[in-house]
Amino acid sequence: MVERIAVTLPGRSYGIDIGPGLLAEAGARLQPHLARDRVFIVTETHVAARHLTALMAGLGRAGIAAEVLTLDPGEASKSWAVLGQTVDWLLEQRAERADIVLAFGGGVIGDLAGFAAAILRRGVGFVQVPTTLLAQVDSAVGGKTGINARHGKNLIGAFHQPVHVLADIDMLATLPRRDFLSGYAEVVKYGLLGDAAFFEWLEAKGPALADGDVALRTRAVAKCCAMKAAIVARDEREAGERALLNLGHTFGHALEAATGYSERLLHGEGVAIGCALAFELSQRLGLCAQEAPSRVRAHLADMGMPRDLTEIRGALPDAKGLLGLMGQDKKVVDGRIAFILARGIGDAFVARDVDPAAVRQLLEAALAAAEPA
Ligand code: GLY
Repeated sequence: MVERIAVTLPGRSYGIDIGPGLLAEAGARLQPHLARDRVFIVTETHVAARHLTALMAGLGRAGIAAEVLTLDPGEASKSWAVLGQTVDWLLEQRAERADIVLAFGGGVIGDLAGFAAAILRRGVGFVQVPTTLLAQVDSAVGGKTGINARHGKNLIGAFHQPVHVLADIDMLATLPRRDFLSGYAEVVKYGLLGDAAFFEWLEAKGPALADGDVALRTRAVAKCCAMKAAIVARDEREAGERALLNLGHTFGHALEAATGYSERLLHGEGVAIGCALAFELSQRLGLCAQEAPSRVRAHLADMGMPRDLTEIRGALPDAKGLLGLMGQDKKVVDGRIAFILARGIGDAFVARDVDPAAVRQLLEAALAAAEPA
């Protein structure tokens, strides 16, 4: 069964198709958006090896030809150099203003190809075909595109909405469990930020979902996309509410930076630990009952996901160092770090007046627990 979620924005509304078997139907589903029977696919080597033949066949079934640029996988591709390479390639291929760039991969490819589409000939259309859970529930939806800077992640970019998103749930079957669970952290985030009933559903269904149940996966991805679509429709440019989607990310980004964006800590693992810390901070500030952080941690534990700084291998900076890394966050306004805090499960809000001393004490306690005995 294929679910369709609409992202409604003035003059740039689009649909997100979610379900199994969508690569085979890619041509038929994308044809309404094409001015000619040709697309420009940007992908990476791992995804290309596993799934490119199926995508090309799906496009070919509708008579659509494709040119393909295959990049190196990994965060390092979100750079000026690879952006330049991508834009040059699109120009060499004579991609026209009315053409479509097809981003086929996870968050790195979606962000990079989307940004290339945003600046090519002052903006061409693009389609997201996300291949990871993280991209299907978050990065492929909502129009944030960009690359990393020397000073931090995603600091260079543009809002550029795709014209369509195809989230083929079958893509998730080939993900290593660690990558799947990293994406699952973003799924949990939606329950925690705005829907207690969804979090309860995840507590019950999470293990079966992780074990591969396609119907449950489809429902979970559709639910997250529907929540994100509603938030983006109200606050596309993150003047307010959209910042809730960064629950767990202020801590998570600092931990990713501290671990060098390496295999030591995947993005979603940072988000999982970050969500646990955000609820712990909320409890310390008297905003929510102790039951809330305990429940967050219990679900992460049930799923075999990290929730403590203790679980990060190797040395970490001290609390002051971690706070310094948070200061590079895009949500910093006038030097003040924004935190997403919660009054309970499903009831998050943006706080701009958190006392840095409280954050420092929380981090000191968490790091002390992480010290070898
Ligand atoms: N990933 C957060 C957002 O799209 O706003």
